[in-house]
Amino acid sequence: MSQHKEIKRVTAHTLQWMKQNNEKISMLTAYDFSMASILDDAGIDVLLVGDSASNVMAGHETTLPITLDQMIYHASSVIRAIHRCMVVVDLPFGSYQGNSKEALNSAIRIMKETGAHAIKLEGGEEVLESVKRIISAGVPVMGHLGLTPQSINKFGTYSVRAKEDAEAEELVKNAHLLQEAGCFSIVLEKIPANLGKRVAEEIKIPIIGIGAGKYVDGQVLVMHDMLGITKDFSPRFLRRYLNLYQEIKVATQHFISDVKTEDFPNDQEQY
Ligand code: KIV
Repeated sequence: MSQHKEIKRVTAHTLQWMKQNNEKISMLTAYDFSMASILDDAGIDVLLVGDSASNVMAGHETTLPITLDQMIYHASSVIRAIHRCMVVVDLPFGSYQGNSKEALNSAIRIMKETGAHAIKLEGGEEVLESVKRIISAGVPVMGHLGLTPQSINKFGTYSVRAKEDAEAEELVKNAHLLQEAGCFSIVLEKIPANLGKRVAEEIKIPIIGIGAGKYVDGQVLVMHDMLGITKDFSPRFLRRYLNLYQEIKVATQHFISDVKTEDFPNDQEQY
């Protein structure tokens, strides 16, 4: 539970306070009203409307197909559910890489049409102009370095990133650039724990890891993975807190059986 007694609404300032006071930041993905409502009630600090919706909600193999309109639909549903946490929304592939004006327009659509509190985008130097333009319009930006799933076709695999010195140095350089550009936080995905530690120590803004080890300022997981709704995805960094796939399957089998045997509905369950 939060050590910050006064939190009514988590903001970028709250996250900065947490880093400075050694309170770890908890972040999960959410894509719909009902789940977001439970996660917010549980006390999560940040909900990320991730473009992983493309995988876990829509069944695509990658995050590339999801559109800005679809992200806006998911984000609006999440925003209607929450009272306390901060909501960050991914800019989807193709909505910001082209040029900084397009990036700004995409960010503005998300903020205007969903009521979200911030956006996240992937990349370092190559998206810096867009990051600066979005921030100058008053939209808080979270960066994302390391494994960047929108570039899967460039890298070819989802393996651990920045194991070699040159790539690690590049990542550190990009983290500094994002900080200087005004990002309020950076996600580091699937990199060695010692590199996560170095970035979290060198960089003043909160560093949130997914597969980036225990020394960073917070942790994020995809909600479906953490609850065990997905079953064929078991990277080393994932801790499953439930096996909902199995529980939902068994409950559904009970329902089917009750219907077939005419056990449901009983006298008390009808008018
Ligand atoms: O889209 C997503 O779920 C993400 C997390 C993996 C950080 O970007």
